[in-house]
Amino acid sequence: MSRAERKKDHINYALTNSVEQSNSFDDVHFVHNSLPETSVSNIDVSVMIGELPLSSPIIINAMTGGGGTETEVINGRLAAAAKNTGVAMAVGSQMAALKDSDEKSTYQTVRNHNKEGIIFSNLGSELTINQAEQAVEMLQADALQIHLNVIQELVMPEGDRDFQGALDRIIAVADAIDVPVIVKEVGFGLSRDAVKKLTNSGIQVVDTGGNGGTNFSSIENERRTAPFRFFDEWGISTVSSIVESVQETSSLSVIGSGGVRNGSDIAKAIALGADAAGMAGNVLAAVQQGGQKGAEQFLERCLEELKMIMAAVGAENIFELKKAPIVVTGSTREWLTERGID
Ligand code: FNR
Repeated sequence: MSRAERKKDHINYALTNSVEQSNSFDDVHFVHNSLPETSVSNIDVSVMIGELPLSSPIIINAMTGGGGTETEVINGRLAAAAKNTGVAMAVGSQMAALKDSDEKSTYQTVRNHNKEGIIFSNLGSELTINQAEQAVEMLQADALQIHLNVIQELVMPEGDRDFQGALDRIIAVADAIDVPVIVKEVGFGLSRDAVKKLTNSGIQVVDTGGNGGTNFSSIENERRTAPFRFFDEWGISTVSSIVESVQETSSLSVIGSGGVRNGSDIAKAIALGADAAGMAGNVLAAVQQGGQKGAEQFLERCLEELKMIMAAVGAENIFELKKAPIVVTGSTREWLTERGID
């Protein structure tokens, strides 16, 4: 199967892979505040991710590119929606364009639709410094996401089996390029231990990519002709991954992602200690159902919901929302207790 066909498969299977399911965010509850003393009109949702100023804490996470016209159209629509709502956007892995320059336009459409916006490049941890530089240059990107997808590779019959040297390559790239590096998972969740290795190596931004939304194990398994369910239940939930990630150092910026469904989940991610939230599968569903307008309306609704929750809990900015009182229950609470986190 060609790379382009695989990209299209991922999009189609991601759409049928229910991302609106219940997940660890259902274990997080805000403590109601009857006297918030705030006004929705005073809410400021701007935030810094590492050194990058974002006007909103919502990020359209890495999905596509490199699948010909179909992915170019999706990326163009997402980029226009990102521009009109002021949210940052990542493209999918640019390896396809580094291997076949005809595919470059499927990514560059994102910059063409959003000249001034915040755009993230994306490559896997097999990258070289030269590839990282080309990927950033291709989009005039503001940051480079490096994804870690061990489980997805293991589940794919043709996937990688050797995961040595990833951290060294990440460090080398982060030292060499002039934009910040964001290290991200793709749905299996960063652990405290992984985050510690990254922060000790100078990485300043991570994206949790936790379990609870798009599940690349089920997607890859469903693509196989013979039924195979290995690794479908694997991974750290997004809420646990956020809490594990923020244990390490307060100077680390954390993007909470994996199954983020709405403004309430975004608010919860931030109250758990994240600085921003990334959404992939649910934005894909919105753009595939309603085109650019559909994606825009979905993002606007998320922003509106986030602002309403901030007003309800008395948080006028993201820094205050991070301190809003929450209660964590259920299996997420058990996980955190077992891991020795209060
Ligand atoms: C992805 N994701 C992804 N991530 C990445 O770093 N590089 C990539 O090329 C892709 N490709 C991709 C394609 C499709 C169709 C989807 C839905 C997702 C993973 C994505 O960025 C995110 O980490 C996970 O999907 C978890 O977030 P959601 O979907 O649960 O919000």
